[in-house]
Amino acid sequence: MPKLTVVDRSGTERTIEVGDGLTVMEAIRDNGFDELLALCGGCCSCATCHVHVDPAFGDKLPAMSEDEDDLLESSDHRNETSRLSCQIEFTSDLDGLKVQIAPED
Ligand code: FES
Repeated sequence: MPKLTVVDRSGTERTIEVGDGLTVMEAIRDNGFDELLALCGGCCSCATCHVHVDPAFGDKLPAMSEDEDDLLESSDHRNETSRLSCQIEFTSDLDGLKVQIAPED
């Protein structure tokens, strides 16, 4: 199974295996990272699933929708690597991806 490395807010890194059809948010949540609140359950309406993504994978990620862009604008911790993890379906193309859970807003 493709692997995803998650860095939590304390800087601790853990690599997890991700099954087919899950989003990055679901994979992080299902593996017990409770810092990622994902309050809206993946409906692109809360921004509590904000992560910073390894820039090396930038061109492999799905395009950002206007809604995602607007929500990220509400975060004080947005940077050029910011994404909402519920909007990234984890495919085998993303094997080896590393994401860091963004600081809490
Ligand atoms: S879980 Fe709410 S926007 Fe991603």
